[in-house]
Amino acid sequence: MNILVIGGGGREHALVWKIAQSPLVGRIFVAPGNGGIGDLATCTTLNSSDHDAVVDFCITENIGLVVVGPEGPLVDGLVDRLEAENITAFGPTAAAAQLEGSKGFTKDLCAKYNIPTAAYGRFSDAAKARNFANKMGAPIVIKADGLAAGKGVIIAETMAEAHSAIEDILGGQFGGAGAELVVEEFLTGEEASFFALCDGETILPLATAQDHKQVGEGDVGPNTGGMGAYSPAPVMTDEMTSRTIEEIILPTMRGMKADGHPFKGIFFAGLMITDKGPELIEYNVRFGDPECQVLMMRMKSDIVPALIACAKGRVDKVEMDWHDKAALTVVMAAKGYPGSYDKNTEVRNLDQASQDENMMIFHAGTKKEAGKIYAIGGRVLNVTAMGNGVAEAKDLAYSTVDRIDWPEGFCRRDIGWRAVKRER
Ligand code: AMP
Ligand code: GLY
Repeated sequence: MNILVIGGGGREHALVWKIAQSPLVGRIFVAPGNGGIGDLATCTTLNSSDHDAVVDFCITENIGLVVVGPEGPLVDGLVDRLEAENITAFGPTAAAAQLEGSKGFTKDLCAKYNIPTAAYGRFSDAAKARNFANKMGAPIVIKADGLAAGKGVIIAETMAEAHSAIEDILGGQFGGAGAELVVEEFLTGEEASFFALCDGETILPLATAQDHKQVGEGDVGPNTGGMGAYSPAPVMTDEMTSRTIEEIILPTMRGMKADGHPFKGIFFAGLMITDKGPELIEYNVRFGDPECQVLMMRMKSDIVPALIACAKGRVDKVEMDWHDKAALTVVMAAKGYPGSYDKNTEVRNLDQASQDENMMIFHAGTKKEAGKIYAIGGRVLNVTAMGNGVAEAKDLAYSTVDRIDWPEGFCRRDIGWRAVKRER
């Protein structure tokens, strides 16, 4: 079977790397891909927002499965269009992708089906939002309703900050994504992510992970797309995992079906493990980036039957084996990220760095030209390793980082610190 993967980040490199190991697969195409994926798949300039062009490409290249990496094309209805053309696609329809595309939608679903989450209100009127926030008190969380590239969440320590966040969002700082907002209770605890595949009626639990969103060591400074991640998340004990499935994932699956938009694809649940147990912070409807990289590293089984079962049904019948080891990924980013940074700097010594089977360098913002690799994005490489425990994986990942020759790049040196501390 030929497969088309949509996207070009580290997540897509990891997905393509895993898909390429499947005996079920013929040719792999990726749109647009990056400087590392080209070794495993054919990169194409196909524009994924042009649904007609995607359908034509699938017919011409005899594509048996389309795997959509990022949220944008899902929220845009790419899967709806492919399904209408009888092309098998991994990912939710636009209606089901509202779980990520609208925070208010997800909060209302939680309220309706008793899914544990922070208390909240939905507003498009600033005075009413301020009023509600005043009653709840600081700290309080203000969220733009729609997709805001990970920047639409403000944790307000004071009421003044909350009020200005409300003004900013409703005043258009995030464009249409901020036409509405959610005011939400601040939850305390440890964060973790849980991943489960769903075919609309059954699920296949995958694994847990933790990431580091902030740019600075010790988890300080501005938020990024993620500076590193590891799996499994120690805070997700067997008990917390089964409570997450029973109290959050299954009620969501049943609620989405009952409301007329069954969810097919991957549930990426952002959780806060509070004194009361797991509470939902948010859903994403695609694999996390860089969480996907550590998941693919630990996944032993062929991923392709699981992706197909998500689209066609009975994902619960799919067998999935995992390495018991921990995986950890360090993001190497261009100096200046998440602010402005230089592009087109050369990255050297990537081949020497990847001789170990417990080791993989996934590319994100890179391009390959005349055999050389250049950085062209903010997050550029995901240096990923497996070990007996997070500490061992961490040491292996950083020893590889240290052999990469890229003076214009940087990384955090403390990825996994919380888990390493626990292991000691
Ligand atoms: P989100 O984009 O919804 O994942 O939010 C980004 C980050 O903001 C989360 O990973 C949390 O660290 C934090 N956050 C979001 N909502 C809450 C909440 N209700 N209480 C505490 N922290 C939150
Ligand atoms: N690493 C967080 C995300 O993919 O949204």
